[in-house]
Amino acid sequence: MNAVEPLSLLSSAAPVAIPAYTASGHEVFLFEMAWERRLPLLLKGPTGSGKTRFVAHMAARLGLPLFTVACHDDLSAADLTGRHLLKGGETVWVDGPLTRAVREGGLCYLDEIVEARKDVAVVLHPLTDDRRILPLERTGELLSAPASFMVIVSYNPGYQNLLKSLKPSTRQRFVSITFDFLPRDREISVVARESGLDEAAVAPLVDVARRLRTLKGQDIEEGVSTRLIVYAASLIAAGVAPHDAVTAAIIEPLTDDPEVKVGLAEITRAVLG
Ligand SMILES: Nc1ncnc2c1ncn2[C@@H]1O[C@H](COP(=O)(O)OP(=O)(O)O)[C@@H](O)[C@H]1O
Ligand SMILES: [Mg+2]
Repeated sequence: MNAVEPLSLLSSAAPVAIPAYTASGHEVFLFEMAWERRLPLLLKGPTGSGKTRFVAHMAARLGLPLFTVACHDDLSAADLTGRHLLKGGETVWVDGPLTRAVREGGLCYLDEIVEARKDVAVVLHPLTDDRRILPLERTGELLSAPASFMVIVSYNPGYQNLLKSLKPSTRQRFVSITFDFLPRDREISVVARESGLDEAAVAPLVDVARRLRTLKGQDIEEGVSTRLIVYAASLIAAGVAPHDAVTAAIIEPLTDDPEVKVGLAEITRAVLG
């Protein structure tokens, strides 16, 4: 269904491994079109639903360097743009990941953007509208982003509270895609591929996860991520008994509440037998 042929953009002679990604809809095409039209992209969705893998996959498909930043509450604009550092008695300017992405015409992916400090939005604004510029006050440079440069940000709306959400003036700059967990069959094949466990053994794990996801918002804060199912399947592939694997890789990461754990274990037993 893809009209474009981004693989032709791969310039190096050596084959580049493209991280496996199973699409849930038209997100691959949308990403390519947004990139072609120079539009920034916002990915929303629960943790472990494939956002980071999707970006890695797209960067490899397009043959572009990827600069990923895991945002945290101390992350400031200078962490993205760069700073003067002392090296052997001299101060030298060192580009941050955003500046490098602009200079190299790559992708800059800011994961969990709502965690970052407010001044991060300020540096993103002139890069995410039609100016596509990055002013570096400290060095006096004004960088123009090349056509292949793109900003991608992600956040998890499940964690949102009133203090932490994107301001409309920021979010209305992005083409946005919502991620959710894959349909059963596709999730089974993803987990099998990622873990090496065969699909017949993976299927009951996905069924456990899907049952537990229905408890989201009641006993557990977040649904079981695909990542956790991959962990459980990897433990089973390594020889761990299925119940132990589910306890360690799915139930324990979900909750600290002893009563809830008992409830989740009962559901697991009902599904796994
Ligand atoms: N659609 C998908 N295609 C391939 N692997 C996936 C997909 N969704 C989830 N995964 C698996 O789950 C793991 C976690 O996904 P990740 O992209 O890190 O989630 P997020 O960034 O949304 O928290 C990946 O490393 C991969 O093993
Ligand atoms: Mg991620």
